[in-house]
Amino acid sequence: MTTPIAGFSKLTKEEKIEWIVTNYTQDPAAAKTVLKRYWNADSEVQKLHDEFIENTITNYYLPFGIAPNFLINDILYAIPMAIEESSVVAAASKAAKFWLERGGFKTTILGTEKIGQVHFIYQGATEKLQEFFELAKPKLIAEVAAITKNMEQRGGGISKIELRDKTSQLENYYQLHCTFETLDAMGANFINSCLEQFAATLKKEAQTYTLFSEQEKDIEIVMSILSNYVPNCLVRAEVSCPVSELTSDAQKATAFAKKMIQAITIAKVEPHRAVTHNKGIMNGIDAVILATGNDFRAVEAGVHAYAARNGSYTSLTDASIENGIFKFWIEIPLALGTVGGLTSLHPLVKLALEILHKPSAKELMKIVAVAGLAQNFAAVRSLVTTGIQEGHMKMHLLNILNQLGATNQEKKTLTIHFKNNAATHNAVVEAFENLRK
Ligand code: MEV
Repeated sequence: MTTPIAGFSKLTKEEKIEWIVTNYTQDPAAAKTVLKRYWNADSEVQKLHDEFIENTITNYYLPFGIAPNFLINDILYAIPMAIEESSVVAAASKAAKFWLERGGFKTTILGTEKIGQVHFIYQGATEKLQEFFELAKPKLIAEVAAITKNMEQRGGGISKIELRDKTSQLENYYQLHCTFETLDAMGANFINSCLEQFAATLKKEAQTYTLFSEQEKDIEIVMSILSNYVPNCLVRAEVSCPVSELTSDAQKATAFAKKMIQAITIAKVEPHRAVTHNKGIMNGIDAVILATGNDFRAVEAGVHAYAARNGSYTSLTDASIENGIFKFWIEIPLALGTVGGLTSLHPLVKLALEILHKPSAKELMKIVAVAGLAQNFAAVRSLVTTGIQEGHMKMHLLNILNQLGATNQEKKTLTIHFKNNAATHNAVVEAFENLRK
C-alpha cells in the first residue's frame, strides 16, 4: 500500500522520480532508466520542457511526421503532423496527392468570432438589470482598456457585450455574453482577463446603482471564462472534380462516387457512425493542432458540440454529385493561434509553423480544416473500397515486429509472408519465432 504524499511539487526532479518509481513500479531501477532515457541531452531544451507543466519527470515523445503535396488555394504545403496512430500520415499524404492532381483544396473563412461569458446571479427585476447594464456598459469597456489596448492597435478587441437572461433555464441566472476578435492569438488569456475585469466592474457598479434594492445590488459572480464552443469561428474546405475523374477506371467512377455519398449520408443520419466518421476527421485535425502547439482539447470539445448543434450528432463533412461534379466539403469551428502560447516557446512548434509558411491564424484554420477533410476522404474511400484493415495491418505487422526486435531482413521476409496470411498478433509472433529457429 502506498501512502499519500505532501509537498510532492517541492521535491527535486530526481526526488520525484525516486518517489514514483519506489512507490508505484515493480522494478524501480528499470523504471528510472526508462524515464531518464527520454530526457533531452540538451539541458536548455530539457529546462524548457520541464517548465511547460508542473511536476515534470520526463518527456513523452510523439512522432512528428510530414504529409506533403497539399495544394490549398493554389499554394503548396507540406503539413507537419504529431500523432501516435499509424496510417494517419500515409492516408493524409495519399489524399493530398489525389487532390493535387484534381485542382487541390479550396477554403474560405466564414467567421473568426471568439466567445466568453460572465455567469452571474441577480435577484430582482430583469428590466432593471437591463437598464443598469446599458448604463454600465461604457464603464465595462473603459475598465478593460489596459488589457485591450494592444489588441485594438492591431485591429482586434471586444466586438460585443450582451446581457443574456437565462432565468428560464436556471433561477436568477444571467450572463454577460461577450464576443471578441483575437486576430492571430487563440485568445484564451486575453478573453479571460477581459472577462474577469468585466465581472469586477459589474459587481462594483451594481453596488453603487441607486435604483437597485439592497438585494439587487448584491450581484453574485459565479465564474468568468471563455467558451470553447465557437460556431462563428468557422472555416470551410472543399474539393471537387468531375465524377469520371474520381477513379483511374472511369467506368467504376460513378459507382465509387455513389458509395462515397452513401457512406457520408449514413454518417449524417446515424450517430454511431457519425462519431467514428468524425474521429477519422479529428485524426488529421488533432495531429496538425498538436504539431502547431494549439489546444486540441479545446478544438475537440468545440467541434463535437458543433457536430451536435441541431440536436443530433452528425457528420462534419458532406458531399454531393451535381451535373457530373463530385463535391466534398467540411465546415468546422476552429479557434487557433499562431502567436503566443507554445507557438513561440516550443522549438518544434516554431519549426512546424515555419514549414507551413508562417501562417496567420486564419491560414492555419484553412490548413487544419483541409487536413481533416483529406483524412476523412482517405478513410471513407478505403472503407467503401478495400476496407481499412489492409493498410492498417501492414503498419500493425511492422509495429509487432519492432516490438519483437526483428532485424530489417526479418521484417522484409515476414512482410512478404503476411501479404497472403492474416497478420494476427499470435500469427506474427509464431512466424517470427519459426524464422529465428
Ligand atoms: C481510425 O482511426 C479512423 C477511422 O475509423 C475513421 C472512419 O471510420 O471513418 C478509419
